Amino acid sequence: MSYIDALEDIHAGLPRQGVGSEETAKTLFDAIKHPHKIQRAIDMGCGTGRSTIWLAEHGIHTVAVDIHQPFLNVLRKEAIRANVADRLDIQNMSIDNVPYPDESFDLVWSEGAAYFIGWAQALSAWKHLLKPDGYLIATDMFWTTDKPSHELSDFFKNDNVLALEQAIKIARQSGYSVIKIYIQPDSDWFDEYYHALGKRAEKLSQHVDPATKQAADMAKREIAIRHKYAGEYEHVGFVLQSSQ
Ligand SMILES: C[S@@+](CC[C@H](N)C(=O)[O-])C[C@H]1O[C@@H](n2cnc3c(N)ncnc32)[C@H](O)[C@@H]1O
Repeated sequence: MSYIDALEDIHAGLPRQGVGSEETAKTLFDAIKHPHKIQRAIDMGCGTGRSTIWLAEHGIHTVAVDIHQPFLNVLRKEAIRANVADRLDIQNMSIDNVPYPDESFDLVWSEGAAYFIGWAQALSAWKHLLKPDGYLIATDMFWTTDKPSHELSDFFKNDNVLALEQAIKIARQSGYSVIKIYIQPDSDWFDEYYHALGKRAEKLSQHVDPATKQAADMAKREIAIRHKYAGEYEHVGFVLQSSQ
């Protein structure tokens, strides 16, 4: 198995594949001025779709986009179980090039996925999809110190992590009004993500497949890094409104 496959495999059985919670989804969504006007959304990098289902349960027709088919298969089953499959359109495609016409959506939603293509690139690539005054709700990880510790920045060196201030500046420069910035609580890291990931990694760290063992050890290290450097980086929710 390749390292990337092993990493995705470790994440497959988890309640969500990144930092978040239903409370945070609600907090961010509640910042929208006229929430009843949100009828069509697209969830970029939806994973197994915890929030996609949440959006659909709120009556919003949602396109769910990810490139990892096993996650989308789980989402399809969950959508049927939650009785919202008729409100979802599940698409295996890359978030950097989604083929929808201008002004297709009232809301672009993305949790923990923008960094894969880069914050600035994501904000600019997704803007044309929004109707005038449409919303972009995105969460991602940002430095909250000017000088992250060497061990920390080295661990995340391939993850395009920006300083929070810089991310806010980019949002304004990309043609959005910043409606809300929300530092996600520590429970968002642990309750539905790191606790489950830690347990799975513990089990798999003795695995015979070297890639699986490597992915498990990496997950354990990521959790240890969070315990050690929590003050230096945060997962942050942005509520942005298209303004130009
Ligand atoms: C950290 S997970 C977050 C998943 C989900 N939004 C959540 O919060 O539970 C990031 C997701 O982005 C997906 N992803 C990464 N690069 C992508 C790309 N270029 N296009 C589509 N999805 C991508 C991954 O497969 C993964 O499901």
